[in-house]
Amino acid sequence: MGDVPLNDLGRGFAALEGELRSTVDEVLSSGWYVLGPQHDAFEREFAAAVGAAHCVGVGNGTDALELALLSVGCRPGDQILTAANAGMYTTTAALKAGLVPRFADVDPDTLLLTAATVEPALTAATKAVVVTHLYGRLAEVGPLRELCAGRGIPLIEDCAQAAGAVSDEGPAGSLADVAAFSFFPTKNLGALGDAGAVVTDDPERAALVRSLRQYGWSAKYTATVPRGRNSRLDELQAAVLRTKLPHLAGWNARRREIVGRYATALEHGPRRMVHGDAAGSPAYVGHLAVLRSPSRDADRAALAAAGIRTDVHYPVPDHRQPVLAEAAAGISLPVTEQAAAEILTVPCFAEMTDAEVDRVCHALAAL
Ligand SMILES: Cc1ncc(COP(=O)(O)O)c(C=O)c1O
Repeated sequence: MGDVPLNDLGRGFAALEGELRSTVDEVLSSGWYVLGPQHDAFEREFAAAVGAAHCVGVGNGTDALELALLSVGCRPGDQILTAANAGMYTTTAALKAGLVPRFADVDPDTLLLTAATVEPALTAATKAVVVTHLYGRLAEVGPLRELCAGRGIPLIEDCAQAAGAVSDEGPAGSLADVAAFSFFPTKNLGALGDAGAVVTDDPERAALVRSLRQYGWSAKYTATVPRGRNSRLDELQAAVLRTKLPHLAGWNARRREIVGRYATALEHGPRRMVHGDAAGSPAYVGHLAVLRSPSRDADRAALAAAGIRTDVHYPVPDHRQPVLAEAAAGISLPVTEQAAAEILTVPCFAEMTDAEVDRVCHALAAL
């Protein structure tokens, strides 16, 4: 019996092989490979799915974050505020744009930013806040939006892990001023390569991102907007994403079901699934199944012995990353740091078999 993998993209491909091969064939013979009809249609379809007026396809999720930050008026030297437990992506985008990342701690139960954790970290110099819907759970954006709006600070959603999540307020990507998505292959909506998008209701912001993603052009070969670059969504990835989008809700439901089963398996011990309480909610899409354990390393070894693959998302908080060593020296984020020592990711992907889910449940219950 082989190990239960953390993810298996090959199964995702096999499940849609016929559709994917014919859509890719169509693009190959169309003779149009970048910013063509597939891209245009995906932008329309994804904007509609998110309930936003505009979607701008870009090369990846980190570019989407950087362009979102530029689109709200951030300039080199400006400070932005985000969480330090979300994989360094927003921080990387901020550094690339010449911004200064600052960090707020997260809620101890959800490991997400909240208005209560963000408020004490805001300063007069904060020019934007980025909230990450970590592991697929929507943050409570309403109070954050109010807090930021009251101080004239734009709020950006990082939806890379939350495509398809919907709260009472609306879908991921429609809850703040602008949102960034990644369609990296492991995401709930994943391309077959790198891809991303910026989503917003604001037509000027969308136009700015559209220009920035293509050399800062205002018209072909006329570079008008500073800080332009090449970050376009190609036709093959757009076609793949269009093929997959109608399946997203079903995949997300399966992911929720899996995390719900893990939460039940852990019920009688000290360990908890981080978002187990949300496993029945459409505001959660089970991107990563993360448990918290007071004995993470021993649990990891026991799961490995039972043939269950694991990983840690993420082991090094942003303010402890070597690249920020000097700038972040002396910063203390107790909840973030404690969580980094206790979190453990177990397998979760839509194509997991029931037998595999049973095996993981059995191993979790035996911890
Ligand atoms: C929360 C989050 N934000 C941003 C990104 C960056 O996306 P990409 O890898 O497409 O640059 C990722 C994933 O990689 C992510 O998980």
